[in-house]
Amino acid sequence: MAKPRHPLGVDVGGSGIKGAPVDLDAGAFAKDRMRIDTPVESTPDNVADVVAAIAEHFERDTGDSPIGVTVPAVVTRGLVRTAANIDKTWIGTDAGTLLTARLGRPVTIVNDADAAGVGELHYGAARSTEGLVLLATLGTGIGTALLHRGALIPNSELGHLEIDGVDAEARASSKAREGEDLSWEDWAGRLQHYFGHVEDLLSPDLIVVGGGVSKHADRFLPLLHLRAPIVPAQLGNAAGIVGAAWLATHEESR
Ligand code: BGC
Repeated sequence: MAKPRHPLGVDVGGSGIKGAPVDLDAGAFAKDRMRIDTPVESTPDNVADVVAAIAEHFERDTGDSPIGVTVPAVVTRGLVRTAANIDKTWIGTDAGTLLTARLGRPVTIVNDADAAGVGELHYGAARSTEGLVLLATLGTGIGTALLHRGALIPNSELGHLEIDGVDAEARASSKAREGEDLSWEDWAGRLQHYFGHVEDLLSPDLIVVGGGVSKHADRFLPLLHLRAPIVPAQLGNAAGIVGAAWLATHEESR
C-alpha cells in the first residue's frame, strides 16, 4: 500500500463537524468525508473529542500529516477571539495548542470563510484572478475572505459591517432569507445593497459567493449588478475542508 500522506481538513460548523483527507494535487477529498453532529455543548474540549474521532477514522490515509481545522470565528495564530455559532467558551482559547496536544500532530486553526477562500483560490472560482478577490459565504452568518495576489488577508469579518444601523449578516445571510421567507428577488435586493457597499469600500476584481445556497446561484446572482464579476464558488461544501488542509501544509503562507 502506498504511504499515507494526505493532510486532513476538518470543518467545525454550528450543526455538524465534517472532515476528509485532502488530495492537494487534485484539490479534492481523497476519501468520502465523515460527518458527526456538533456536540450540543460545543465547547473546545467536546469539539476536540469529535476532531480526534475523525482523525482516528482517517489515520490510514493521513498518517501523521498536519490537520487544518476551520471554526466560525476570528483566529489569530491559533487563538480564537470570537464565537459566532459555537460555544462562547471558545473565546480566548488557544485552540491551536489545545488540538495539537490532543491529537499529537500539528493542527492549524483557521476561520471558516478564510479556509473556503483559500480552497477557491487554489482550486476553484478564484484560480486565475490576479488582483483582489472577495469570497463571501452566505449561510447562518456571512463569512468573508479577502485574497490579494494569492495571499490571504485573514479575519476580514465583513459580514459584520454595520449597514443602515444593522449587522449586515442579520439582513443578508441565507438564514435571514429562510427565516423571513424572502423571495429570491427580495433577498437579491438585500444582497445588492450589501455587496454594493462592500464594493465601494474595497473594489475587488472578483466576488465569489459560497455557502450551501450557492448551488441555487442562478436564482439570485443574475439579479445583482456590481462592477466586479460575481460568480458562484466551485468547490461547494468542500472548499473549507480543502482550504484548511492546504493551509495546514503551507503554514508559512499564513
Ligand atoms: C462569523 C465569522 C464566520 C461567519 C461564517 C460570522 O458570524 O463572525 O467568523 O466566518 O459567521 O460562519
